[in-house]
Amino acid sequence: MKKITAPDITALKGQRKITMITAYDYPSALIADAAEVDMILVGDSLGMVVLGYDDTLAVTMEDMLHHCAAVSRGASKALIVADLPFMSYHESVSQAVSNAGRFLQKTGVRAVKLEGGRPYCEHVRAIVNAGIPVQGHLGLTPQHVANFGGFKAQGKTAEAAAGLLEDALALQDAGCFSIVLEAVPAEVAEVITEKLDIPTIGIGAGPSTSGQVLVFHDILGLFDKFVPKFVKKYAHIREDAIEAISEYRREVSVGDFPGAEQTNHMNADELRIFKDMLNK
Ligand code: KIV
Repeated sequence: MKKITAPDITALKGQRKITMITAYDYPSALIADAAEVDMILVGDSLGMVVLGYDDTLAVTMEDMLHHCAAVSRGASKALIVADLPFMSYHESVSQAVSNAGRFLQKTGVRAVKLEGGRPYCEHVRAIVNAGIPVQGHLGLTPQHVANFGGFKAQGKTAEAAAGLLEDALALQDAGCFSIVLEAVPAEVAEVITEKLDIPTIGIGAGPSTSGQVLVFHDILGLFDKFVPKFVKKYAHIREDAIEAISEYRREVSVGDFPGAEQTNHMNADELRIFKDMLNK
């Protein structure tokens, strides 16, 4: 099966909407790939929905490499994008290139994403020059949660919106193949999408972006500790899972599980011989 590439994603702008979902392990990658999404993001959101942290800041390169390798084993078609975690590219351009390279060499992903605009354009340019496609990420960039004072929507004033547009144009110029716009007003996302040649992938950015991304656990209703307003739950798997496991616990406690269907029996002759052996 031909894998979707970063240039394929760029070429989709204006042709049809682009779909992206996060995945963090082999089964979630198999599911996302079977649903035929264009891109799978191994997001550092795994820190919150898989590892139980309050934000994404504690996620390390080792965490990301471990999860990216599992996702790669499960996805046969979608373009897999790896999130560069907090402090894996902030120190220097060479740190950014070397950590981006580790993802491609060690896990099989074929693109990376980093958060931030103009201050990171030099990093983006160097990573792209090394042969690694880069997806930008603007707006509510969770690695800046301490600066923002919480998970707050961005680009709400005219000045902030103009700053986001400048950042987006600079990231495009630096070589990004697409840009995620997170938690920005729909009007701002629409203008940025119109002004760019590369696609925008929205999350909480309204309907006018070139595509959409959501977190796997949010779509399926697997995580309810923090559910942003822009999330739509397409299933309620957490409730279903609790119900199923409670029923399992009840059946075990009353002796209904395992039943006849889940039980293997020994051949009657072998059983007789075995019992004879015990009686000797
Ligand atoms: O880490 C992540 O899942 C993300 C998406 C929310 C875009 O960055």
